[in-house]
Amino acid sequence: MMLLSNYLEGVPCGNHPILKTQNYTCAPLLVLYCNTEGFLEPLAIQLFSNKKEQNPVFTPKDPPNAWLLAKMFFNSANGQIQQLNEHLLFTHMVTEPFAIALRRRVSRNHPLFRFMFTHLQHIIAVDSYARGVMISTGGTIDRVMSTGGGGHLELMKRGFKKWSIEDFDVPKCLAKREYGYRDDSLLYWAVIKKYVRRIVELYYKSDQDVANDSELQDFMEESKKFGFSYADDDKLPSKLEKKTELIHLLTGIIFMSSVQHAAEGNPMFDIYGNPPAHPVLLRQPAPTNKEKVSMEDIMNTLPDQDLMCAQMAVSHTLSTPPADEVFLGEFPMKLFTEESAIKILEEFTQDVKDIGKKINERNKSWKVPYEYLLPENVPARIDM
Ligand SMILES: [Fe+2]
Repeated sequence: MMLLSNYLEGVPCGNHPILKTQNYTCAPLLVLYCNTEGFLEPLAIQLFSNKKEQNPVFTPKDPPNAWLLAKMFFNSANGQIQQLNEHLLFTHMVTEPFAIALRRRVSRNHPLFRFMFTHLQHIIAVDSYARGVMISTGGTIDRVMSTGGGGHLELMKRGFKKWSIEDFDVPKCLAKREYGYRDDSLLYWAVIKKYVRRIVELYYKSDQDVANDSELQDFMEESKKFGFSYADDDKLPSKLEKKTELIHLLTGIIFMSSVQHAAEGNPMFDIYGNPPAHPVLLRQPAPTNKEKVSMEDIMNTLPDQDLMCAQMAVSHTLSTPPADEVFLGEFPMKLFTEESAIKILEEFTQDVKDIGKKINERNKSWKVPYEYLLPENVPARIDM
């Protein structure tokens, strides 16, 4: 298996706003192989995907310090993409426009509002905070990540340009992903899609009902016009004509707001809480000579004590659910009063519980259980 991060090619690294030092990252290539026990092991790392000179291929047979530093650089580059694009952009930012359009264009008693509110309740507040404090000039990202200082926004722009509603087709995208995440996600995808389909079929008897629902069409128009102007024009339709299109869109929004966000956010402290293994800010350029890497070079490259503490604090905060968290399948707000709809919600609650039983059963036979997507760890919405 080969992982390619040329996504980062040419993305600028910042100067630390307090320390006034230059940050560094790379755009690496990684080759992995699956060993006989089913674990992935790194075989080779090249730190720049497009550079021809002074771009050695690092392997486990190199001097230990050189291999260690190459792995740190890979993890650091991967951390920029995971935190900024996979997490912030592809769960927070792509669901927020729908939350805004829902409030501005759909009345409170419309089934679309009552159905989606559970999953889009807090995202506007969370993203406002992220824009004001985290990705803003001099904010958290500038202080803890190598691409802070503007590169982080460039990275997100590149990601948004590539986004399309096809990215809401999770089973298609999952062919590329790792096993625990993939297997559990497919279980959730099936029950979320069933839950959405049953609600849509309850309130829309025909495709014509979808096309003629002026509030739904206003919601689509507003989401596209104000939320996706960065994406190419054909990436999100501005009008829905069919029930299947509505089911696809709502399933995607709910999945990204719940399961996908949990998969990106829950492991954060387990990964970035160990800054030497996954440093998201590096203070020296990538090594170009395998023979001359000393432990002093490694220490000078890693974040210093204050930066490591900041990385640990941020990742801990982002992976800790708030006290009033609502988990997928829970409905503390009684937004539906129709018995037929309540029955669908209750069935969804049971379906999610059954997924928990399946994951626990599967985990018994795994050396390293994958627990990030157990129902008790999957919020119904984005809160952090
Ligand atoms: Fe988040």
